[in-house]
Amino acid sequence: MNQRAVGRFYDRCAGFYDFIFDQVFHEGRLEAVKAMRLAPGDSVLEIGIGTGLSLPLYPRHVRVAGIDLSTPMLEEARKRNSRSGQRRSVGLARMNAEKLAFPDVCFDVVYAPHVVSVVPDPRHVVTEMGRVCKPDGRVVVVNHFGTRHPIGRWLERRLTPLTHHVGFRLDLQLDTILGIPGLELVDDRRVNMLKLTRLIVFRKRQQANIGKLSRRERARHCTQRRAQWSAGRVDPAADVDTEACGGLAAVEESPSGGERSAF
Ligand SMILES: C[S@@+](CC[C@H](N)C(=O)[O-])C[C@H]1O[C@@H](n2cnc3c(N)ncnc32)[C@H](O)[C@@H]1O
Repeated sequence: MNQRAVGRFYDRCAGFYDFIFDQVFHEGRLEAVKAMRLAPGDSVLEIGIGTGLSLPLYPRHVRVAGIDLSTPMLEEARKRNSRSGQRRSVGLARMNAEKLAFPDVCFDVVYAPHVVSVVPDPRHVVTEMGRVCKPDGRVVVVNHFGTRHPIGRWLERRLTPLTHHVGFRLDLQLDTILGIPGLELVDDRRVNMLKLTRLIVFRKRQQANIGKLSRRERARHCTQRRAQWSAGRVDPAADVDTEACGGLAAVEESPSGGERSAF
């Protein structure tokens, strides 16, 4: 996939994206949020948040950060969030999923709905998702993956050059994102109409250097990470605009005010 072309494609379709993709993928979004098993105070990073169709589905007690390559898509997400009138903490930023400008281990859940088939290197994106996920946290992917049926596979291969023009590939195999060190597959089921989409859930294993720490040490470790992020020590090579559409400040402050959030 050509990233610039994909970005331009989604810039152009921001205004009518919901008309085509809202209801078709609604069931999968609902199931994905259930599979996250969110607890009060948890933080979620949504990769390729698009127009924010999942935003109304999150419980009110969680903090959500959403990133996307396309500013017009993010703008739609920002409008949806303001319309909802809910006082949920949501931060939005333009950022490339292949180079997340977040420190390691800072989100309880990292979620990518319908994104891994629109990026040039899906395995790298899921690895990045694992990097920023806390130990024991969940990495959730919702996507169409290529079929193993020979005729279906042949058809998907033939159609993929065409679907490239509309910003995604049909023939991405699930194996591409399996076996990433530190990510254990805990759920794989079919969702959405015709069950053509899969909901994949990984659990982030305890990392050796973090798992051995006591609770207090781990909290200190996370505070240091947070300080790096707050101090703006993000990778200067990252294609990122943290101020786009309101920026991430909203999620950095906890809903109760004052204290910094978990990332
Ligand atoms: C098919 S849409 C899915 C939107 C939304 N997740 C949903 O389920 O409706 C793909 C989204 O991924 C975004 N995207 C594509 N490549 C990206 C990248 N490298 N980094 C971040 N977002 C990307 C696009 O701009 C678009 O908003």
